Amino acid sequence: MTAALATADAPMREVRADGLRLEPQRVDHADAMFAVLTDPALYEFEHEPPDSVESLRRRFAALEARRSPNGRQAWLHWVVRLDDGALVGAVQATVEHGGHAAIAYELGSAWWGRGIGTRAVAAMVNELAARHGVRHCSAVLKQQNLRSFHLLRRLRFTHASPAAHAARGVERDEWLMERTLPHDPAAAAERGDRSS
Ligand SMILES: CC(C)(COP(=O)(O)OP(=O)(O)OC[C@H]1O[C@@H](n2cnc3c(N)ncnc32)[C@H](O)[C@@H]1OP(=O)(O)O)[C@@H](O)C(=O)NCCC(=O)NCCS
Repeated sequence: MTAALATADAPMREVRADGLRLEPQRVDHADAMFAVLTDPALYEFEHEPPDSVESLRRRFAALEARRSPNGRQAWLHWVVRLDDGALVGAVQATVEHGGHAAIAYELGSAWWGRGIGTRAVAAMVNELAARHGVRHCSAVLKQQNLRSFHLLRRLRFTHASPAAHAARGVERDEWLMERTLPHDPAAAAERGDRSS
């Protein structure tokens, strides 16, 4: 690929990383992902499981548009598949024109603690920089969610300023963490070549 393709509008593609791959999420992933996303351990701190496989199919179908209805955001969702074929979770980014991405991620608890979450999110962040023009990533997490906190610290995210917390309306029991990505078109193109 060339650096000129690094834009929020670039088509999603499969991303390979050590022991896993990220597949652009499609509606036909919904049935297998329903089993992953109804794991109660995922919701210890926030959010709720999908209430039915049909509702999850509808959600995944809508997300295949890859953009918000007003066209201002790219919605980039990948499922995480291990090399043994198991579908184990998902990573996602909401990308604004201008190069900011808000990221999120979830992994079935049977696979926690093996570095899979860190590798999957690292692969997504690299792809966002190489392919989708992202220069700044952020994540909002509950302060008690130490797994997520350590994952982000491992990937060199740091606490955003109090002003940034206020501007984003972050709750008192949450943290906003962020990372600025280096602007290096050559490295981005190289990463893109390796993951295509
Ligand atoms: C957050 C999540 C994706 C992490 O996945 P994972 O594959 O277990 O993560 P990793 O194995 O890569 O470990 C991440 C870090 O958490 C640390 N960790 C693991 N278990 C921990 C625990 N019980 N307490 C504190 N830290 C822990 C690991 O040591 C690692 O840090 P390190 O690299 O500094 O050693 C997973 O726990 C999850 O899906 N949680 C539910 C959904 C969620 O909270 N999503 C994030 C919302 S902001």
